[in-house]
Amino acid sequence: MTSPDITQTPLIVPLGSRDVDDIARIHVACFDEAWNARILTRILAMTGAFALGVRQGGGVRLGRRPPQGGVAEALAGFAIARVAADECELLSLGVAPASRGLGLGAMMLDAALVRAGSVNVRKFFLEVAENNIPALTLYKARGLTQIGRRPKYYENKDGSFTDAITMRVELPEVNSS
Ligand SMILES: CC(C)(COP(=O)(O)OP(=O)(O)OC[C@H]1O[C@@H](n2cnc3c(N)ncnc32)[C@H](O)[C@@H]1OP(=O)(O)O)[C@@H](O)C(=O)NCCC(=O)NCCS
Repeated sequence: MTSPDITQTPLIVPLGSRDVDDIARIHVACFDEAWNARILTRILAMTGAFALGVRQGGGVRLGRRPPQGGVAEALAGFAIARVAADECELLSLGVAPASRGLGLGAMMLDAALVRAGSVNVRKFFLEVAENNIPALTLYKARGLTQIGRRPKYYENKDGSFTDAITMRVELPEVNSS
Protein backbone atom coordinates (compact mmCIF):
# COMPACT_ATOMS: atom_id res chain seq x y z
CA MET A 1 0.00 0.00 0.00
CA THR A 2 1.35 3.45 -0.90
CA SER A 3 1.23 6.21 1.71
CA PRO A 4 -0.61 9.40 0.85
CA ASP A 5 1.69 12.27 -0.14
CA ILE A 6 1.13 14.68 2.75
CA THR A 7 3.03 17.44 0.95
CA GLN A 8 -0.03 17.64 -1.35
CA THR A 9 -2.50 17.92 1.53
CA PRO A 10 -4.09 21.38 1.78
CA LEU A 11 -3.10 23.18 4.94
CA ILE A 12 -5.05 25.94 6.71
CA VAL A 13 -2.65 28.60 7.96
CA PRO A 14 -2.99 31.95 9.71
CA LEU A 15 -2.15 34.89 7.44
CA GLY A 16 -0.79 38.28 8.42
CA SER A 17 0.67 41.48 7.07
CA ARG A 18 3.62 39.67 5.44
CA ASP A 19 1.16 37.76 3.24
CA VAL A 20 -0.68 40.75 1.73
CA ASP A 21 1.05 40.50 -1.67
CA ASP A 22 0.05 36.85 -2.01
CA ILE A 23 -3.52 37.59 -0.92
CA ALA A 24 -3.73 40.56 -3.32
CA ARG A 25 -2.64 38.35 -6.23
CA ILE A 26 -5.57 36.00 -5.59
CA HIS A 27 -8.02 38.78 -4.71
CA VAL A 28 -7.59 40.46 -8.10
CA ALA A 29 -8.40 37.14 -9.80
CA CYS A 30 -11.57 36.83 -7.71
CA PHE A 31 -13.23 40.25 -7.64
CA ASP A 32 -13.91 43.21 -9.92
CA GLU A 33 -13.18 45.53 -7.00
CA ALA A 34 -9.79 44.12 -6.05
CA TRP A 35 -8.07 44.94 -2.76
CA ASN A 36 -4.39 45.74 -3.23
CA ALA A 37 -1.66 45.09 -0.67
CA ARG A 38 -2.07 48.54 0.89
CA ILE A 39 -5.81 48.09 1.44
CA LEU A 40 -5.26 44.56 2.77
CA THR A 41 -2.64 45.81 5.22
CA ARG A 42 -5.14 48.36 6.54
CA ILE A 43 -7.91 45.77 6.83
CA LEU A 44 -5.72 43.24 8.65
CA ALA A 45 -4.68 45.95 11.11
CA MET A 46 -8.31 46.59 12.16
CA THR A 47 -9.26 45.54 15.67
CA GLY A 48 -10.65 42.00 15.65
CA ALA A 49 -9.56 41.24 12.08
CA PHE A 50 -8.08 37.85 11.24
CA ALA A 51 -7.09 36.07 8.06
CA LEU A 52 -6.70 32.41 7.21
CA GLY A 53 -5.22 30.91 4.11
CA VAL A 54 -5.00 27.56 2.48
CA ARG A 55 -1.67 26.39 1.15
CA GLN A 56 -1.27 23.54 -1.24
CA GLY A 57 1.70 21.34 -1.98
CA GLY A 58 3.89 21.51 -5.07
CA GLY A 59 0.98 20.93 -7.47
CA VAL A 60 -0.07 24.58 -7.56
CA ARG A 61 2.48 27.40 -7.42
CA LEU A 62 0.77 30.74 -7.02
CA GLY A 63 2.74 32.20 -4.15
CA ARG A 64 5.98 34.15 -4.49
CA ARG A 65 7.92 31.64 -2.44
CA PRO A 66 8.63 28.30 -4.12
CA PRO A 67 7.81 25.08 -2.28
CA GLN A 68 10.74 24.30 0.02
CA GLY A 69 11.73 20.71 0.65
CA GLY A 70 8.25 19.44 -0.19
CA VAL A 71 6.59 21.55 2.50
CA ALA A 72 3.14 22.82 1.50
CA GLU A 73 3.74 26.40 0.36
CA ALA A 74 1.68 27.96 -2.40
CA LEU A 75 -1.19 30.11 -1.22
CA ALA A 76 -4.33 28.97 -2.99
CA GLY A 77 -6.97 30.94 -1.10
CA PHE A 78 -7.78 33.26 1.75
CA ALA A 79 -10.56 34.14 4.18
CA ILE A 80 -10.62 37.48 5.97
CA ALA A 81 -13.02 38.16 8.82
CA ARG A 82 -13.54 40.58 11.66
CA VAL A 83 -14.84 39.88 15.15
CA ALA A 84 -16.65 42.56 17.15
CA ALA A 85 -18.22 41.51 20.46
CA ASP A 86 -20.29 38.38 19.73
CA GLU A 87 -20.48 38.97 15.98
CA CYS A 88 -18.14 38.07 13.15
CA GLU A 89 -18.32 39.34 9.59
CA LEU A 90 -16.68 37.45 6.74
CA LEU A 91 -15.09 40.33 4.83
CA SER A 92 -13.71 38.35 1.92
CA LEU A 93 -13.22 34.77 0.77
CA GLY A 94 -11.44 33.74 -2.38
CA VAL A 95 -9.81 30.76 -4.01
CA ALA A 96 -7.40 31.08 -6.93
CA PRO A 97 -9.21 30.08 -10.15
CA ALA A 98 -6.92 27.08 -10.78
CA SER A 99 -7.70 25.68 -7.32
CA ARG A 100 -11.50 25.99 -7.28
CA GLY A 101 -13.81 23.03 -6.90
CA LEU A 102 -11.37 21.13 -4.68
CA GLY A 103 -13.04 21.86 -1.35
CA LEU A 104 -10.62 24.65 -0.36
CA GLY A 105 -13.25 27.39 -0.08
CA ALA A 106 -15.33 25.17 2.19
CA MET A 107 -12.24 24.31 4.28
CA MET A 108 -11.49 27.98 4.86
CA LEU A 109 -15.09 28.88 5.65
CA ASP A 110 -15.25 26.02 8.15
CA ALA A 111 -11.96 27.17 9.71
CA ALA A 112 -13.26 30.74 9.98
CA LEU A 113 -16.49 29.50 11.62
CA VAL A 114 -14.47 27.44 14.12
CA ARG A 115 -12.14 30.35 14.85
CA ALA A 116 -15.10 32.69 15.39
CA GLY A 117 -16.86 30.15 17.60
CA SER A 118 -13.72 29.74 19.69
CA VAL A 119 -13.88 33.40 20.73
CA ASN A 120 -17.58 33.17 21.64
CA VAL A 121 -19.02 34.64 18.47
CA ARG A 122 -22.74 33.84 18.24
CA LYS A 123 -23.65 35.52 14.95
CA PHE A 124 -21.59 35.03 11.78
CA PHE A 125 -22.64 37.08 8.78
CA LEU A 126 -21.53 38.11 5.32
CA GLU A 127 -22.57 39.79 2.09
CA VAL A 128 -22.57 38.08 -1.28
CA ALA A 129 -23.57 39.15 -4.79
CA GLU A 130 -27.03 37.84 -5.62
CA ASN A 131 -25.72 36.19 -8.81
CA ASN A 132 -22.70 34.47 -7.20
CA ILE A 133 -24.03 30.92 -7.39
CA PRO A 134 -20.85 29.09 -6.18
CA ALA A 135 -20.62 31.26 -3.06
CA LEU A 136 -24.37 31.26 -2.36
CA THR A 137 -24.42 27.46 -2.67
CA LEU A 138 -21.47 27.12 -0.30
CA TYR A 139 -22.95 29.50 2.28
CA LYS A 140 -26.37 27.83 2.23
CA ALA A 141 -24.67 24.45 2.67
CA ARG A 142 -23.06 25.84 5.84
CA GLY A 143 -26.40 26.98 7.25
CA LEU A 144 -26.26 30.66 6.35
CA THR A 145 -29.65 32.13 5.47
CA GLN A 146 -30.65 35.39 3.85
CA ILE A 147 -31.51 38.20 6.26
CA GLY A 148 -31.46 41.16 3.89
CA ARG A 149 -30.67 42.69 0.54
CA ARG A 150 -28.58 45.73 -0.38
CA PRO A 151 -29.66 47.08 -3.76
CA LYS A 152 -26.89 47.92 -6.26
CA TYR A 153 -24.22 47.24 -3.63
CA TYR A 154 -21.48 45.98 -5.97
CA GLU A 155 -20.22 47.95 -8.96
CA ASN A 156 -19.15 45.71 -11.83
CA LYS A 157 -16.32 46.40 -14.27
CA ASP A 158 -18.84 47.29 -17.02
CA GLY A 159 -20.39 49.98 -14.81
CA SER A 160 -23.50 47.94 -13.96
CA PHE A 161 -24.50 47.15 -10.37
CA THR A 162 -25.46 43.98 -8.53
CA ASP A 163 -27.50 43.61 -5.34
CA ALA A 164 -25.84 42.11 -2.26
CA ILE A 165 -27.56 39.46 -0.20
CA THR A 166 -26.84 39.62 3.53
CA MET A 167 -26.63 36.19 5.16
CA ARG A 168 -26.25 35.01 8.73
CA VAL A 169 -25.82 31.88 10.79
CA GLU A 170 -26.12 31.54 14.55
CA LEU A 171 -23.22 29.68 16.13
CA PRO A 172 -23.71 27.43 19.14
CA GLU A 173 -22.69 28.76 22.52
CA VAL A 174 -19.27 27.51 23.58
CA ASN A 175 -19.53 25.72 26.91
CA SER A 176 -16.87 27.38 29.08
CA SER A 177 -17.39 25.07 32.08
C1 LIG B 1 -16.87 30.88 -3.85
C2 LIG B 1 -15.50 30.20 -3.80
C3 LIG B 1 -14.69 30.77 -2.63
C4 LIG B 1 -15.73 28.69 -3.58
O1 LIG B 1 -14.44 28.10 -3.40
P1 LIG B 1 -14.12 26.62 -3.93
O2 LIG B 1 -12.88 26.19 -3.28
O3 LIG B 1 -14.18 26.58 -5.40
O4 LIG B 1 -15.37 25.83 -3.34
P2 LIG B 1 -15.35 24.33 -2.80
O5 LIG B 1 -14.65 23.46 -3.79
O6 LIG B 1 -14.86 24.32 -1.41
O7 LIG B 1 -16.89 23.96 -2.85
C5 LIG B 1 -17.66 23.97 -1.65
C6 LIG B 1 -19.12 24.04 -2.02
O8 LIG B 1 -19.41 25.28 -2.69
C7 LIG B 1 -20.40 25.06 -3.69
N1 LIG B 1 -19.82 25.34 -5.00
C8 LIG B 1 -18.50 25.54 -5.29
N2 LIG B 1 -18.36 25.82 -6.60
C9 LIG B 1 -19.59 25.79 -7.13
C10 LIG B 1 -20.10 26.02 -8.43
N3 LIG B 1 -19.30 26.35 -9.46
N4 LIG B 1 -21.45 25.95 -8.62
C11 LIG B 1 -22.29 25.65 -7.60
N5 LIG B 1 -21.85 25.42 -6.32
C12 LIG B 1 -20.52 25.48 -6.11
C13 LIG B 1 -20.82 23.61 -3.56
O9 LIG B 1 -21.85 23.55 -2.59
C14 LIG B 1 -19.57 22.97 -3.00
O10 LIG B 1 -19.79 21.80 -2.28
P3 LIG B 1 -19.80 20.38 -3.07
O11 LIG B 1 -18.47 20.32 -3.76
O12 LIG B 1 -19.93 19.39 -1.96
O13 LIG B 1 -20.94 20.44 -4.02
C15 LIG B 1 -14.73 30.38 -5.16
O14 LIG B 1 -15.60 30.01 -6.21
C16 LIG B 1 -14.21 31.77 -5.40
O15 LIG B 1 -13.14 32.13 -4.94
N6 LIG B 1 -14.99 32.59 -6.14
C17 LIG B 1 -14.57 33.96 -6.46
C18 LIG B 1 -14.58 34.83 -5.23
C19 LIG B 1 -15.94 34.81 -4.54
O16 LIG B 1 -16.98 34.86 -5.18
N7 LIG B 1 -15.89 34.78 -3.20
C20 LIG B 1 -17.08 34.82 -2.38
C21 LIG B 1 -17.50 36.23 -2.21
S1 LIG B 1 -18.84 36.40 -1.05
